[in-house]
Amino acid sequence: MAWKTLDDMDLNGKRVLVRVDINVPIVDGVVTDSTRIRRIAPTVRDILAAGGKPILLAHFGRPGGERRENLSLNQLVPTLERAFETKVHFAADCVGTGAELAAEQLQPGEVLLLENTRFHAAETKNDPDLAAGMARLGDVYCNDAFSAAHRAHSSTEALARLLPACAGRLMQAELEALESALGQPERPVTAVVGGAKVSTKLELLSNLIEKVDYLVIGGGMANTFLVAKGMGVGKSLAERIMKDTAAKIIEKADGLGCQIILPTDIVVAEKFESHAPHQVLPADQCPEEGMILDAGPDSVARITEIFGQSKTVIWNGPLGAFELEPFDAATNAAALKAAAMTNAGQLTSVAGGGDTVAALNASGAAGDFSYISTAGGAFLEWMEGKTLPGVAALEEAG
Ligand code: 3PG
Ligand code: MG
Repeated sequence: MAWKTLDDMDLNGKRVLVRVDINVPIVDGVVTDSTRIRRIAPTVRDILAAGGKPILLAHFGRPGGERRENLSLNQLVPTLERAFETKVHFAADCVGTGAELAAEQLQPGEVLLLENTRFHAAETKNDPDLAAGMARLGDVYCNDAFSAAHRAHSSTEALARLLPACAGRLMQAELEALESALGQPERPVTAVVGGAKVSTKLELLSNLIEKVDYLVIGGGMANTFLVAKGMGVGKSLAERIMKDTAAKIIEKADGLGCQIILPTDIVVAEKFESHAPHQVLPADQCPEEGMILDAGPDSVARITEIFGQSKTVIWNGPLGAFELEPFDAATNAAALKAAAMTNAGQLTSVAGGGDTVAALNASGAAGDFSYISTAGGAFLEWMEGKTLPGVAALEEAG
């Protein structure tokens, strides 16, 4: 790949400006999922081990260019110190004399965290002057924020042009995993796409039918495809106005040799509730009062059979209403099959997207996947075949 890594840089005694994504969920001041923080720890450790001084740049939430105390990165310092097992200093701005002084005074073995980049309205405008202010704090730029790489912001894009630039360990791992799943995958390759709406995943579906051998469609969006095939879906979530679009996708996939897999049987309830009374029916027999909440056992058998023939699976979106038991059954069963095959060395399995990761964690399968992305939007845009500005800037710098 065309970008440099930490191994290509001379880090000894250097201030290394590391763009990280520590946009983690917080409830009442407590970090409820520290995955993103744990996943950047190797980058910080490797920089420290090479004699470099990590200075972390990050956004937090969407403060809209204003200083908002509830979105201060200061509150993450204790969690970062635990993850890095070292002192983390904090500077109350990401540019300016205070930050410059803190960067200058940073001691070997210690880390400096800069305040939320989005407290400056210029950040999300990819403003070069703000990037120049950031560049004064470091000798080397390292982008480890794959999950923010779909944003062309000062700290993710413009800054990469101002300093010698490289990818961090997490960025490297994310890009390598995606390349193995969709760039140069071992075939056959199967994509699993779920979630509520066809309209938000149109570009994704259009790109995938050109790249994969099997496309498994689940979740609410599968209902729209059932409608396109002339089936009634009762009170199910479905975008009926997207039915012609769905029909065109089916037709185009056919011409491209991509097989689209839709549910052949469905789990139907009358209420969107955990343990709502439900029945399994053929896909074309949803009653008028019914709501499709999951794919049925025959559909799962077909999906696992297709996994059995595949060498690569890339997964975005749950197959059913996974947050309500027992309508997580199809997602769980398919995920466990992918995990077992991965464990047996038969499959490369890569998954990403907020809901997807939550669903795979709940199924207990996530730990056995080849790779679980930390990214939501960026993972989706990458799967859509889009160029991610943060990655493109690294490639140009390389
Ligand atoms: C995320 O959490 O998806 C990333 O940190 C990007 O955040 P954003 O969607 O606010 O740009
Ligand atoms: Mg997002």
